[in-house]
Amino acid sequence: MKILVTGAAGYIGSHFVKKALDRYPTVKICAVDDLREGHNQAVPDSERVTFHNLAMDNEAALDPVLAREKPVAVVHFAANAYVGESQEKPFKYFDNNVTGSLILFKLLAKYGVNKVIFSSSCTTYGNPQYVPIDENHPQNPINVYGTTKLMIEKALHGLHLASGWSYVSLRYFNAAGADDEGAIGESHDPETHLIPLVLQAALGRREAISIYGNDYDTEDGTCIRDYVHVYDLAEAHCLALDKLLSLKEGESTFDAINLGTSKGASVEEVIKTCEKVSGRSIKRKVTERRAGDPAKLVADYTRAKEILGWEPKYDLERIIETAWAWESSRQY
Ligand SMILES: NC(=O)c1ccc[n+]([C@@H]2O[C@H](COP(=O)([O-])OP(=O)(O)OC[C@H]3O[C@@H](n4cnc5c(N)ncnc54)[C@H](O)[C@@H]3O)[C@@H](O)[C@H]2O)c1
Repeated sequence: MKILVTGAAGYIGSHFVKKALDRYPTVKICAVDDLREGHNQAVPDSERVTFHNLAMDNEAALDPVLAREKPVAVVHFAANAYVGESQEKPFKYFDNNVTGSLILFKLLAKYGVNKVIFSSSCTTYGNPQYVPIDENHPQNPINVYGTTKLMIEKALHGLHLASGWSYVSLRYFNAAGADDEGAIGESHDPETHLIPLVLQAALGRREAISIYGNDYDTEDGTCIRDYVHVYDLAEAHCLALDKLLSLKEGESTFDAINLGTSKGASVEEVIKTCEKVSGRSIKRKVTERRAGDPAKLVADYTRAKEILGWEPKYDLERIIETAWAWESSRQY
């Protein structure tokens, strides 16, 4: 059996591929990524992985790949994922995240691939009306990136209604951490995620870590986010995939599921934990609040537990330990 993985050379996609190879000893992976953001070295070197350096919307090139490899499902990570950039270059995001996904789906339909695990995001909720956020929270994204994720959730639902597609939209909160063996990890350029930025400051690669506002209505005044380990995310994808692959002929299903830990950590708490793990002191620079940053974003993951039997296993300290091991000796 073969699974198509788009964005397989990216941060979360590569961890999923590594996890899936362990978890499913006979499954093969058809990995697609044009390396616009990802890294060749992140894709595990295995005879069960065929890597295709091409864009998901390159119909002419992808068509023969699907015809030959006959995947039974897709785990769809490929996207542009910078919130700030999406506000500056909205069409880059609509073109890639929306049009690109729709072109891919059209090709999947041609080959009867109608089972999709989709990388959605807590940004689809917009400003929280309550926390922890459950899946019934209204989806009112406040930026283009979140809008593109919501558009694909809706497109998948349309395909479910019209053509019996089965999908699970996994709404991640803040992905963090790295491979326990230190072989792969997070490497974005520019990096915008807090934990790698703090650890880079610990290593002297950055002078200080910026804290965007310390007057929020939280215990220490800094923003609270929900950090979930990349292998906990990978495990949830496997559980969702199991669910779709166990469907009988003619059955279809859909779901949207939050992936977070329900335990928020403030920026200050993250920095303190990074200081503890690295044994180094980290310089802070407090600046203005950023527009659109809510004080607290935390997931209610009850549904993931009920539907998938999923529980996050990594706490903040363990997340930071794996990120530190990676950041201090990263290969790419
Ligand atoms: N990192 C997070 O905290 C987070 C949170 C919520 C949702 N997500 C979503 O999870 C997914 C993976 O995120 P990530 O952090 O691993 O990002 P990433 O940038 O590391 O990985 C995305 C990968 O997709 C590839 N890609 C992009 N467009 C492509 C295209 N048209 N054709 C082929 N390959 C293409 C890139 O080269 C990259 O390797 C994205 O869809 C993102 O929106 C991430």
